Amino acid sequence: MYLVSLVYASTRADDWEDNDIYQILSESGKNNAKSSITGSLCFNGDYFLQCLEGGRTAVNELYRRIHNDRRHRDVILLHYSEITQRSFEQWHMLYVPESRISESQILRYSGQKQFNPYQMSGASALQLCRELAFIAPEEQSEL
Ligand SMILES: Cc1cc2nc3c(=O)[nH]c(=O)nc-3n(C[C@H](O)[C@H](O)[C@H](O)COP(=O)(O)O)c2cc1C
Repeated sequence: MYLVSLVYASTRADDWEDNDIYQILSESGKNNAKSSITGSLCFNGDYFLQCLEGGRTAVNELYRRIHNDRRHRDVILLHYSEITQRSFEQWHMLYVPESRISESQILRYSGQKQFNPYQMSGASALQLCRELAFIAPEEQSEL
């Protein structure tokens, strides 16, 4: 089964409630384990940046479901490619809140200090996601 990686950006819905993130992370952990999907989800309270990796069919199906999810809007595909190996094999969905992303990391990958994935190229967004996966696992949370 071909491995692919997909990165998208989106914006939380207007009626978003803070609890929604816990709901999303708990369903993601369960579903992704079943379909051998791994990846990361960055969220700063406004914007999401998510990287999904796994078998091509599984990733495409999940992206379709996520795209239709009303808890966010303006879903835009930033990057899609075949990969030879995973970057997130240790996490079915690594959660990265904004507090875990330093200003210098954002600055490395975009033209500004504020986290805004719509202002990043697909390649930069993918690199930022991968860099975050190299932070020691014990410093990160997977819900
Ligand atoms: C920002 C965001 C990220 C999500 N990430 C995942 C994910 O990684 N895995 C997953 O199964 N569902 C994820 N979801 C939830 C899906 O959109 C969907 O609700 C869930 O897969 C259950 O779908 P179903 O009710 O059709 O079974 C995410 C939703 C949002 C808003």
